[in-house]
Amino acid sequence: MNFSFSLNTQNHFSIIKNIADELNQQVYIVGGFVRDLILERERNEVDFLVIGDGPTFAQKLAEKLNVKNVNIFKNYGTAHFKYKNIDFEFVGARKESYNKDSRNPHVEVGSFEEDINRRDFTVNTLAISLNTKNYGELIDNFNGLDDIKNKIIKTPLNPQITFDDDPLRIMRAFRFASQLNFYVDENILIAAEQLAERLKIVSQERITDELFKILSSSNPSIGLKLMQNTKVMHVVFPQIANLAGVDQRKDFHHKDVFLHTCQVVDNISKSTENVWLRFAALVHDIAKPQTKRFVEGTGWTFHGHEEIGARMMKGVFKQLKLPLQKINYIEKLIRLHLRPIALASEVVTDSAIRRLSANAGDDLDDLITLCRADITSKNQDKVAKYLQNYENVMSKVKEVQEKDNLRAFQSPVKGEEIMEICNLKPSKKVGEIKKAIEEAILDGKIQNNYNEAYQYLLQIKSDYLN
Ligand code: CTP
Repeated sequence: MNFSFSLNTQNHFSIIKNIADELNQQVYIVGGFVRDLILERERNEVDFLVIGDGPTFAQKLAEKLNVKNVNIFKNYGTAHFKYKNIDFEFVGARKESYNKDSRNPHVEVGSFEEDINRRDFTVNTLAISLNTKNYGELIDNFNGLDDIKNKIIKTPLNPQITFDDDPLRIMRAFRFASQLNFYVDENILIAAEQLAERLKIVSQERITDELFKILSSSNPSIGLKLMQNTKVMHVVFPQIANLAGVDQRKDFHHKDVFLHTCQVVDNISKSTENVWLRFAALVHDIAKPQTKRFVEGTGWTFHGHEEIGARMMKGVFKQLKLPLQKINYIEKLIRLHLRPIALASEVVTDSAIRRLSANAGDDLDDLITLCRADITSKNQDKVAKYLQNYENVMSKVKEVQEKDNLRAFQSPVKGEEIMEICNLKPSKKVGEIKKAIEEAILDGKIQNNYNEAYQYLLQIKSDYLN
């Protein structure tokens, strides 16, 4: 296969060829760019493999292209710059050997073949020459092209070696399967299970990054199930692994919460690109195993799993090194995920609707998206009924909101004014009075406006000041 035509349409590649000629250096485009060119996936990052010193080549090329900012990573022998909004990454061909206790390889200068051999997957071993003698030629030493056509992730060497070299590749295999909708070779699955524990030497940030790339793909369940079936989930996210399993008691069958969760994540991925909302779907039932009880006459129950699940997030965020500014959002969605269905009955009070609206605040739409995705029944009539119930809840919410504009809810009389009127210093009491005003609004005793809140404050103040 020859790519000179598609390369020539991208002017910068022929500039690189000319400079490589001038410098008498061999350069190839490698990795994801080639894979995605064949798959016709758009991307704006190109990896160049330079036979020799990558950073020096990058620097000389940058000079010719008039690019000022070149990032050189001496320790890794790599360089990067941006050109016409495309990320150019350079690496010198290397031969790597690994030490058992570290994922940092011992790196030596190597040949084209030595470099390509040590790459992760056959679909990533493809290279396109940018050299005059075979410009545009596809070099396919491991049948990567066939593997792309057959939609399969395979390693160029024995997967035991490939994963032992860099255990993060276990996660990468599942991530590519999810992103590209590819199968994973059986030998990879075997090696992944055997070497799963080696993921512990990889930094948590990189593992979490791969997990989130799986969640960002169009069918996250592909990657999640691969993680589960190889027991990689047990190492990376044991609380999710724990959701698997089915219990049978009398006629009461309790469904596999892991498979249900996978379906919820896939469902929600059809309605949102927000990866945090997808993460909320992944963890929404996380406390079901510890709250599971069999109640005679009722069957399986999971009382309180929403509250316990929300409380588990502190530990989960620490474990996965997730950004703490997202924790409130995730806790809130878990805590409230059963509320809308509980409010779907015909006789529901305005005050219950107000509470939902006030508790969910700006995240109410996301909460309903999660609730919709949570319907995994195979019975279409039931699905239609539940969806209709959520419609009803949302129209009631709208009705009540229009009545009293509660979305960004807070007492109309602020803390400072309460202190002044009651002659109080900043204290717990001020919070209690403010809360009492808010409760009165939520209960519908007074309207959500300044005047009524002020009058109410005057009325209750003596109860708090004795
Ligand atoms: N690579 C590898 N082992 C890793 C990471 C990367 O062998 N643990 C190699 C692969 O050949 C890969 C290339 O380095 O194609 C570039 O890595 P990266 O940018 O992380 O992946 P891409 O394949 O480019 O895919 P994407 O950008 O979509 O993540």
